[in-house]
Amino acid sequence: MAGELARYQSFMDVVRHRMTNRAFASSEIPRDHFELILEAARHAPSGANAQPWHYVVVTDPAVKRVIGQAFVDEQQRRARLHMGFPTPNYHGVTTAPGLIVIVADFRFIRAFPVLNDDSELDRLYKKNAERILLQSVAASTMCAHLAAAALGYAVWWITAIGQEEIQQRIKPLLGVPDELAIIDVMCFGPPLKPSYKRWKKRLDQIMSWDRFAPEHFMTDADIDEWIKTTRHKVMYRDESKID
Ligand SMILES: Cc1cc2nc3c(=O)[nH]c(=O)nc-3n(C[C@H](O)[C@H](O)[C@H](O)COP(=O)(O)O)c2cc1C
Repeated sequence: MAGELARYQSFMDVVRHRMTNRAFASSEIPRDHFELILEAARHAPSGANAQPWHYVVVTDPAVKRVIGQAFVDEQQRRARLHMGFPTPNYHGVTTAPGLIVIVADFRFIRAFPVLNDDSELDRLYKKNAERILLQSVAASTMCAHLAAAALGYAVWWITAIGQEEIQQRIKPLLGVPDELAIIDVMCFGPPLKPSYKRWKKRLDQIMSWDRFAPEHFMTDADIDEWIKTTRHKVMYRDESKID
């Protein structure tokens, strides 16, 4: 048992020290580190064991610049739309030493429990199947992030790439077939400034035994208040510096 606990502690050391950072020091990531990271992604669970993912490692600085610029443009677009979302500075993507584009194959929705008869019921099952697919790709992506953290890198999970316009710009550069979707970008590298630990809920706030603990249910108004007063703090501040 002592062996298992020690293994759990090593694992938790990686989990705790996986921290988002949005600016990296310039450095060269060895090719085998990309392979070590994606070897972890390969072992992830997925619905129907479909493994509906593919990872494109981007090494060409010119392509990185185009991808980085797409995020900066999207950031400016959100500002113009007055979305009110505290969008980060995406310039760090351009110079991220490690950049992996995550591709999902949504056609695998057909491999999950669906009717495929275009009925209303089929629509509901397909909605659920889409969630299965997204969870599958996220599970694999998370393995990659933890592997990068285990290698001592700071990581950055970016979903802001999902818009159709960005896809049209980036897919041809990477030779990604039209049938597939780019759903994420993973950046990693040595951090420019030390990473900081963001606020995490306490264990008792996320855990119930047998029945959902009603004191942890948030009303719509609670959530609106959280977005107004707390979201920006927990996104961009060290948890020890939140009042
Ligand atoms: C599904 C998902 C989507 C995310 N999308 C973005 C994103 O588009 N841009 C960004 O800067 N960070 C993004 N993040 C990073 C989160 O902001 C970050 O994980 C969160 O603030 C908690 O910080 P931590 O990773 O240091 O624990 C995303 C993270 C996840 C898991």
